[in-house]
Amino acid sequence: MKKRLFFNKYILFIIVFSLILSFTGCNDPHVEVAPKSEEVSLLTFEELQGKIDIDRTMEYIEDLVGFGPRLAGLPGEVEAGKYLAEAYKDLELEVETEEFPVMVFQDKEVQLTIKQWGEATPITANSLTYSTSTPEDGLTDLPLVYAGLGRREDFNGIDVTGAIAVVHRGELFYRDKVHNSAIKGAEAVIIINTEDSPLMATLIDKSIVPAIGVSSSEGQKIMDALEEGELKADLLVNTLIEDSTSNNIIGMKESSKETDKVLIIGAHYDSVNCPGANDNASGVGGLLEIATVLKGVDLPFDIQYIAFGSEEVGLIGSRNNVTTNHLKSSSNVIGMINLDMIGMGEYLVVLRENSLSDDFLSNIAYKAALDLDIKVVAEFSGRSDHSPYENQGIPVVFLAYWPFDPLYYHTERDTLETVDPQLVKNTVEVVLKTITTLVNEEYNQ
Ligand code: BES
Ligand code: ZN
Repeated sequence: MKKRLFFNKYILFIIVFSLILSFTGCNDPHVEVAPKSEEVSLLTFEELQGKIDIDRTMEYIEDLVGFGPRLAGLPGEVEAGKYLAEAYKDLELEVETEEFPVMVFQDKEVQLTIKQWGEATPITANSLTYSTSTPEDGLTDLPLVYAGLGRREDFNGIDVTGAIAVVHRGELFYRDKVHNSAIKGAEAVIIINTEDSPLMATLIDKSIVPAIGVSSSEGQKIMDALEEGELKADLLVNTLIEDSTSNNIIGMKESSKETDKVLIIGAHYDSVNCPGANDNASGVGGLLEIATVLKGVDLPFDIQYIAFGSEEVGLIGSRNNVTTNHLKSSSNVIGMINLDMIGMGEYLVVLRENSLSDDFLSNIAYKAALDLDIKVVAEFSGRSDHSPYENQGIPVVFLAYWPFDPLYYHTERDTLETVDPQLVKNTVEVVLKTITTLVNEEYNQ
């Protein structure tokens, strides 16, 4: 009897306990995640898409272009940075400014004249970023010697001592071409572009000897003259190289949920010495539009919007972000989405630097573009700020519109009028759809 009573009490206890559990939802994992997934499922892509205001995006782009060239470490970049910090504040983001040293560079003057059989021909040229200057009076009557691509083996059997080495663009970094020429005794280097446009490129660090670039047609004049016989040149290069600082402008959007996961969305806001509308006010405008659309939308992870400084002089801002403690540990980073040149071209490219890296994020973005009926191709390029993150093992996607037109890229023609609002909108949509997919399919718990 006693035993029976105990048994009944035991049964009663179990019934009451399981009732409590079922009311609190503690015995069923599905019941526990239900409220969260209900919150999350409120994030439909269509809802976000409806909030995009492309006129507002174009205003962001116009404002940035209004600061004039945003050269790394110079006032245009500084003013644009202040504007971005204000814009983040208006979007209720927590603003952090990440300062780093940068070398300011200005191409002040280049004069190149080739001389043959008593005839002098001026050649249009520009200095490469971080090219050192010639002496004030320039170099006079120096022989020109062709050295192929400027690889080490290209100097076998030729003598560039005291000469100006002439090399073609391609295969190795510009700085290596210049370095290889300088250690063989060249006084200066001319690099011929493969495109018929000025060669705008960086040497990453101050060069030992002056290095200039010429378009393919100007280069052809030099090559033709070299075919004819002995060729000499006068060269004056006047550049300014100065220590300064630059900033990444970071806007933090925190999730209301307890999370250490963060998605980075970035775009560089500096430019070369040109209006820099497509490269890359377009990407920063897209970034601000995404932040505007997502204002007040709670996500299961944090977002860091990063406007990078000093991309054009060697990805300095993004390199700095990954190497300093401003980047949370890379294992917390879901991925990095980079927007660079999203307003001109025919099709969207979804890029990573190489085929060996993690394609998790780029696959999602690629599928998003397909679902949205946006013309898209997947390619590889490391020519922008996603590269340092990718090297860190972080999944990346670099979104750009291609093909880029060398007649506009890094030239005075890179103006607001060339930015096609529809292409910027397409890219913003791809990012928002990528985020929706991340929320609903990857972080929905
Ligand atoms: N936006 C360009 C990169 C780019 C150009 C991507 C054309 C796709 C097509 C970027 O601002 C840039 O010019 N990058 C530099 C590289 C960097 C290491 C200085 C470049 O490509 O020369
Ligand atoms: Zn760019």
